[in-house]
Amino acid sequence: MKEVIYKINNRTLKIGIIGLGYVGIPLASEFLENGFKVLGFDTDEEKINSLKKGISYISHISSDFLREHMNVNFDVSKDISMIKNVDVIILCLPTPLDKKNNPNMEFVFGTIKSISPFLVKNQTIILESTTYPGTTSEEIYPMIRKLGFNVGKDFFLVYSPEREDPGNKDFKTSEIPKIVSGHTSNCLKVGTSIYEKIVNEIVEVSSTQTAELTKLLENIHRAVNIGLVNEMKIISAGLGIDIYEVIDAASTKPFGFTPYYPGPGIGGHCIPIDPFYLTWKAKQKGIETQFIELAGFINNQMPLRVVEEALNLLKKNNLNQNKSKILILGLAYKKDVDDMRESPSIRIMEELERFVLKVDYSDPFIPNMPKTRRYKRPKQSIEVIKDNLREYDLVIIATDHSEFNYSLIKESSSMILDTRGVYRSIDANNIFRA
Ligand SMILES: NC(=O)c1ccc[n+]([C@@H]2O[C@H](COP(=O)([O-])OP(=O)(O)OC[C@H]3O[C@@H](n4cnc5c(N)ncnc54)[C@H](O)[C@@H]3O)[C@@H](O)[C@H]2O)c1
Repeated sequence: MKEVIYKINNRTLKIGIIGLGYVGIPLASEFLENGFKVLGFDTDEEKINSLKKGISYISHISSDFLREHMNVNFDVSKDISMIKNVDVIILCLPTPLDKKNNPNMEFVFGTIKSISPFLVKNQTIILESTTYPGTTSEEIYPMIRKLGFNVGKDFFLVYSPEREDPGNKDFKTSEIPKIVSGHTSNCLKVGTSIYEKIVNEIVEVSSTQTAELTKLLENIHRAVNIGLVNEMKIISAGLGIDIYEVIDAASTKPFGFTPYYPGPGIGGHCIPIDPFYLTWKAKQKGIETQFIELAGFINNQMPLRVVEEALNLLKKNNLNQNKSKILILGLAYKKDVDDMRESPSIRIMEELERFVLKVDYSDPFIPNMPKTRRYKRPKQSIEVIKDNLREYDLVIIATDHSEFNYSLIKESSSMILDTRGVYRSIDANNIFRA
């Protein structure tokens, strides 16, 4: 362990990052900025080629930064056997759900199997992916032990969940306290020594299970509170009360209230997925997760409510559904990011297309909408200009990107369905809420 700590302290430690996506790339950049050598791995050839050319595909990591480091202290590869050349292996791999809403751990476990022949003594494996409690100690530890390593003595196993909040300009990675846990106390020491080189504050917890559940609690807290405020939106609309005025007023309480805002549903790789990792694990122990399931149900209904409101508006205005055109503003699942994974906008688009003539979208972060698993028809973003806005019978604000010109949208659209409370005071007769 002394040798590992020595290498960390004099920054000769080589970092390997497997999975160069929304989590892997910002993490790599943090290590690069702090003087470490980083070798990145990904199975996606397009990402590897793009990085090699110094072209960034993550909006807050600049291509200039990549070019400055590529082939100096940063390299990327598809060849997983190169893992034998690094000291630390950080797994930033997807942890999605399968068709039955159960954890799909094939990316994490499959990768550990494929790197197994190339693991060497004194390496450290760190899992950053979000997962259910017990993943590190009950699943990964036995895989490492089976290879003959003595974890805590000649191999180190760490779990440290990622807390990245894409699009949030208020917190840099280094400013977000990092939860660190180890399979043994030596593993914890190694993990802490590594992360204290790139973040200002380390929060050590007593076990990998605790760290795994901490991350899930954070995301479940969001999912449940968003579900609650979405339900409050429906209730207040029924009572004829403005939910945004209520939230703003409640937010003046200096303690005991945290504002959450309603929307068209939840998206991204975390909030719609992670809570069900706990549901699956709890079920194995015969424990129910009622809050998680209720919040999931309510949040899942929201895109359909938007569709219902949109169709009602067309009807009320005597517009023929079959001839109507709708523009959805924002394809990303949240403000100012380019991530459309699980985005409610896609579900809204898919549903509306069953009823109306045409559904287009505009998103400054997603100029081209690629085919997805669910959505097969690629589309191109429409420019938000007066003449284009006039083409549509209804404009739905699904994502409140800062770049949209909301006064132009208000002036030039026939009807607007605002799902984000962009127009706080509805002083125009063409604005409606969903
Ligand atoms: N995106 C976020 O904001 C965020 C925040 C906190 C935690 N997380 C968690 O971090 C983990 C990673 O999420 P992400 O958003 O970075 O996912 P991502 O899909 O953006 O990135 C994952 C990368 O792994 C690559 N990959 C898949 N299989 C591979 C393999 N066998 N070998 C090498 N590379 C492989 C993919 O090509 C992709 O580039 C997930 O568990 C997620 O829940 C994500």
